[in-house]
Amino acid sequence: MPTLRCDQTPSWKQLLAHAQQHAQMPALSALFEQDAQRFQRFSFTAPAVFADLSKQQITTPVLDSLLSLARECQLETKRDAMFRGDEINITEGRQVLHTALRGGANSPHYNEVQGVLTEMLAYAEQIRNQPQITDIVNIGIGGSDLGPRMAVQALEPFTQTDKRYHFVSNVDGFDLASILQKLRPQNTLFIIVSKTFTTQETLSNAHSAKAWFEASGGTGLADHFIGVTTNIEAASAFGIQRTFGFWDWVGGRYSVWSAVGLVLAMAIGAKSFRAFLHGARQMDEHFMQTPLEHNVPVLLGLVDIWNRVFLQRSSRCVAPYHQGLARFAAYLQQLEMESNGKGVDILGNAVAYPTSATVWGEAGTNGQHAFFQMLHQGTDIIPVDFIIAKEAIYPAATLPDQVVNQLKAQHQILLANALAQSRALMIGKTREQALAEFAGKPSTGIDALTLAKHRTFPGNRPSTTLLLQNLSPESLGALIALHEHRTFTCGAIWNLDSFDQWGVELGKTLAKDLLPRFKTGQTENLDASTAELLKRIS
Ligand code: F6P
Repeated sequence: MPTLRCDQTPSWKQLLAHAQQHAQMPALSALFEQDAQRFQRFSFTAPAVFADLSKQQITTPVLDSLLSLARECQLETKRDAMFRGDEINITEGRQVLHTALRGGANSPHYNEVQGVLTEMLAYAEQIRNQPQITDIVNIGIGGSDLGPRMAVQALEPFTQTDKRYHFVSNVDGFDLASILQKLRPQNTLFIIVSKTFTTQETLSNAHSAKAWFEASGGTGLADHFIGVTTNIEAASAFGIQRTFGFWDWVGGRYSVWSAVGLVLAMAIGAKSFRAFLHGARQMDEHFMQTPLEHNVPVLLGLVDIWNRVFLQRSSRCVAPYHQGLARFAAYLQQLEMESNGKGVDILGNAVAYPTSATVWGEAGTNGQHAFFQMLHQGTDIIPVDFIIAKEAIYPAATLPDQVVNQLKAQHQILLANALAQSRALMIGKTREQALAEFAGKPSTGIDALTLAKHRTFPGNRPSTTLLLQNLSPESLGALIALHEHRTFTCGAIWNLDSFDQWGVELGKTLAKDLLPRFKTGQTENLDASTAELLKRIS
């Protein structure tokens, strides 16, 4: 659709001007002192998620320009095109309709979606009621692993406890081997998940799992290996009889809502899986219907653009203060970096602005004892997303009351730490404060001023806090959909095809070329480094 590219819009120029004045902008703490309404002005409510953006380095003029940018880049028109089912993934000629997987009766492909959903949930319930199946192994990689793995971990308190759930993704045999040794063939169900059913890692692991099953005396292979794929023929060739399909209009990294979520449905059951879909659908409706000024995924995406492009922050840290979300940053890495890590726009023209930030992170409070040092005092300014849940829900329902009370007290420690970190990043500590801390105390062998310099925090470091009531199937669904739409917002403004991933192809092709050389030893047409390394390892 013809539209001005973001860097040619009037609001882009305004944002460049805002960014030039940024050095003169009062520090975040001063902005709060100057404006008693700052928190109210920059915090927003979406289904299941409250977003506090007031600790971001934004002002009303900056946000107004970002909103104009969204309008000038026709964000709403592009959003509607996605929901309607236009082929917005133009390099692959595909619709982008993961939203239809949780959509209502009017959404595209409704009957197909409901057909597979009903079938997969019935099967999930059947397996939940089969005591002889004690172990379920999901074999897949990328979108066929990261979403279900993250969600099963996040929803552990809602999970059936008489079964164990395992995930194998890496082609490194270390991954599969460590799991196989815990299994018995007759008690194990393998779910081979691959959209294409051609992915080297997944097929290698699936063949090895099959070999283990047969060598360990397993019988009735068809009852112990099932598939989730768009390529039913290839799954049958492997020997799989039961497959759950999905469609080329579901991108791998957007597929947890489809049959790719089968392992999650087995873990949490049909009712909770529907609640997970419902949470996402609520967020879809918010994204579709809420004016941009209050539209949380849009606002998060716009602040990402402000940080990435105009303030040149090249990375973003994701710090969920919830151990259940320990894999959330890994999940977001694929979602955001595979979607928006692109160097050409949708027309194939090189972009003249930065695109996806590097997304990384770790659950709090663990991160505090690792990389938070750099966040507070390092030379790069890295915006942080804190994710917190007001109420704790713990996996083990059978713990004694006294222990549960103790864990609830720990939850307050967790939340206090999350708030303390975002506050510390913002307020910092001046040299005078650092000096005063040591007034009158004996020297440590270093003079007080030098020590104070080490103990000074620059502060004025931005963060967002996303607050959930608790982490449940519904709120997790909303949280994931929020990030999908946040990613969409950035990609739409940058004018990218956020739904292809050509950047992963070259490495796959070169690996196929290198593999036979381990046997033949041939090094023709290789660069000297690769050739010499190959000689040392083959
Ligand atoms: O890493 C590239 C990729 O194509 C991802 O986009 C995808 O999620 C993953 O590989 C796995 O693909 P498949 O589900 O087809 O095995």
